[in-house]
Amino acid sequence: MSITLGAIMDRFRRALQAAGVEDAAAETRILIGGALGLDRAAMLARPELALRPEDETRLDAMLDRRLAGEPPHRILGRREFFGLEFQLSEATLEPRPDTEILVETVLERLRPRREEPLSIVDLGTGTGAILLALLSEMPFARGMAVDLSEKALATAQKNAEALALADRFDTGCGSWFAPLAGRVFDVIVSNPPYIPSAVIPTLDVEVREHDPLLALDGGEDGLDAYRAIAAGAGAHLASMGFVAVETGFDQRQSVEDIFRGQGFILSEARRDYGGNDRVQVFSKTRSA
Ligand SMILES: C[S@@+](CC[C@H](N)C(=O)[O-])C[C@H]1O[C@@H](n2cnc3c(N)ncnc32)[C@H](O)[C@@H]1O
Repeated sequence: MSITLGAIMDRFRRALQAAGVEDAAAETRILIGGALGLDRAAMLARPELALRPEDETRLDAMLDRRLAGEPPHRILGRREFFGLEFQLSEATLEPRPDTEILVETVLERLRPRREEPLSIVDLGTGTGAILLALLSEMPFARGMAVDLSEKALATAQKNAEALALADRFDTGCGSWFAPLAGRVFDVIVSNPPYIPSAVIPTLDVEVREHDPLLALDGGEDGLDAYRAIAAGAGAHLASMGFVAVETGFDQRQSVEDIFRGQGFILSEARRDYGGNDRVQVFSKTRSA
């Protein structure tokens, strides 16, 4: 006899709860809804829906992976960010909701220039989430996605194509500014790796075993990437341009000092949904 949607949702909820998953009901909806292509309303409205045996087998395999510590969106292979869907790969970080604040901050600053053909570079692009979210809202802008990982760039390129943004999207493989060969940009944006190396083994299993180390490791004090970005940004920034970075919750002052040491002025700082310092914007002049 085939299992119903309501019964398998119940199985997921109980198993996830027993394993100590914090929001078992939400994860049940993400996993089952994502796998079967059902939204929340459809799932709640049709508990009697009979599933095919192969769907039950597939869902049970997903549940086993979740119980072994793999995060739900990794299991699905995709995650929503800024209302857009991004494919993930083993070389990419899962884009996080807090990073949407970086996108919103940049978009607010660019609003008066929405019709201009601006250039944006995203350093450490991963899935391309930040740059593609910006391009989706800035119809005349062009973007360059840089990453040290060729595999991450291949995923970002696929995402650009799936979102029909590939004609305004280029990639460059290498460390920070190395692939940019003297080019100048109106906006430099980055969510670089910022976890101190020694902290990585203490992170939750979902992060430490499933996000790539290259996307997490910020060096001994977590600040290596900011030092490199601040040192190179001046040569690649158009006049009136700005640099916007995401930082760790306790890095605000250190990152500001690093940029100030390279002649930048802090234009704006924002907190995340949890009230932690998260985004800083720097420019060369007060008016930018
Ligand atoms: C924290 S992840 C951010 C990914 C994506 N921007 C996001 O916000 O979801 C940092 C990214 O920087 C890349 N990266 C690490 N070191 C780099 C370097 N030296 N040059 C360029 N990219 C680098 C990693 O491969 C990873 O994709």
